[in-house]
Amino acid sequence: MLEPGSEFGHYRIIEHIGRGGMADVWSARDVQLNRTVAIKTIAPDLSLPNANPVRLFEGEAKTIAALEHPHILPIYDFGSYQGQLYIVMRYVSGGSLEGALEDGALPVDEVLRLARMIGEALSYAHANNVIHLDLKPSNILMDSYRSPYLADFGLATLVGPEGKAKNPGSGTLLYMAPEQMISAELDHHADIYSYTILLFHLITGYLPFDAAQPLALKQLQGGAEIPNPQSLRPTLPMALHDVMRAGTAVKIEERTPTIMGVYEGFEAALRHTVALNAAPRPASRSVDRTTAVGGDLAMLVVPPTSEDDLGVLPRTPSSVLRSDVLTAQAGSEARARREAQDIYTRARRAWARGQGRFLLGVTHFMLINDFYAEAELHMLELDDAGMQMLLRGAIEYDYQIDFWWAKLDETNRRWVALHALQSQNAAARVRALRLLEHLMDDDPPQIPKQVAQALAQERSRDAKLAALCVLEAHARRAHQRAAKTAPPA
Ligand SMILES: Nc1ncnc2c1ncn2[C@@H]1O[C@H](COP(=O)(O)OP(=O)(O)OP(=O)(O)O)[C@@H](O)[C@H]1O
Ligand SMILES: [Mg+2]
Repeated sequence: MLEPGSEFGHYRIIEHIGRGGMADVWSARDVQLNRTVAIKTIAPDLSLPNANPVRLFEGEAKTIAALEHPHILPIYDFGSYQGQLYIVMRYVSGGSLEGALEDGALPVDEVLRLARMIGEALSYAHANNVIHLDLKPSNILMDSYRSPYLADFGLATLVGPEGKAKNPGSGTLLYMAPEQMISAELDHHADIYSYTILLFHLITGYLPFDAAQPLALKQLQGGAEIPNPQSLRPTLPMALHDVMRAGTAVKIEERTPTIMGVYEGFEAALRHTVALNAAPRPASRSVDRTTAVGGDLAMLVVPPTSEDDLGVLPRTPSSVLRSDVLTAQAGSEARARREAQDIYTRARRAWARGQGRFLLGVTHFMLINDFYAEAELHMLELDDAGMQMLLRGAIEYDYQIDFWWAKLDETNRRWVALHALQSQNAAARVRALRLLEHLMDDDPPQIPKQVAQALAQERSRDAKLAALCVLEAHARRAHQRAAKTAPPA
């Protein structure tokens, strides 16, 4: 198990952010490139018959890292370190689609927006001979703008010249295609099946058969078919059932042949429902909100409308366009910046309105610090309240305190350092007290009064000692001042 603060190659671990079936996920700082990333550490599966699991993993990770698409989570790096396999990827802050589904089905236009983006990402992977094989809500991550990213091509497999790959023999039962349970070889049809189950889940809020048993198993045991979504959400159109049936056909030659084929059927069936919705935005043009926010359009990748979208999907496997790759790269950076901007804006609002409520967790602090420490370069607006908040974070997490300290005047420094006396973290209180010890006071003095109050409640021995030092230093200075101004006897 890694520890916050520990080094992992040129990454420094920030905190543990998640755990899945076979992996742990950490936020970390890439100290070489000065950016916040997510690192997934995986215990190598030594039970695999293949002799070298590390090489196997690296071969697959390389293929996946080469995929560049606005809705595929970028992989920055991968390898093995002290017996652990790891993947370094972009950190995104919005949780997974699993979380979004906790309150049931999503609004129809939201489902269409997500379905289109995820569908495009999958189609792009298929066009590059990669199949995902573990499509499910927890493997779709969201940024703070609810833009989805297909993640965890964990079992992803490269298909051979005949479009077939060896079945890796794992996956998530509830979303799994029948052939994934029984065949030695798989192709992209397995993803088409899982994608259809995913759409069913998003639009109804339920898995087929209420997650009691995987649909595929019932199908294999004989005769079952996917339920009619209308039976779970009566406002849904009848026509949706046919789309779902075709996407989950047991025989792959009867299954809808492409991901976008499923999406288009789904969208056509729902178009009418969307038109009846309160916000009648044409579904296929529903715009990724990421692009509608922020002024500097040059930094943004304009999201394709439905027609252009097809341009992102190479029409033949060989036409994976270089320009798409470049757009995806620029887009990924621009999206990371906008995510930082969004987190900053919300945190700053809480900070200013609640008169200094500091709500930033360490990963989010690091993420915005990456961009706001170079605010001008990134064309980001940073005012005194924002700098106060960042200094407060710097004290809380002991990161770049000097940098933010130098940016603020005495009054702001004092205000922030006094605020940090409320931190839950004793080490941060000690840091604040050390800063207060050397700081000029206001007139009338503020520091001794507030430090004495804090001392009365302090439990940490280190913080008590630091508080006493502050009181002593300020008493000494007051005494010196009084001696200087007193008239000679
Ligand atoms: N790039 C990332 N940025 C932010 N959070 C992430 C990132 N990758 C993963 N996480 C978080 O870590 C959690 C665990 O991810 P992981 O992929 O290991 O498990 P899972 O998808 O929930 O389950 P499974 O093991 O079946 O894949 C995710 O649910 C998510 O909250
Ligand atoms: Mg996962």
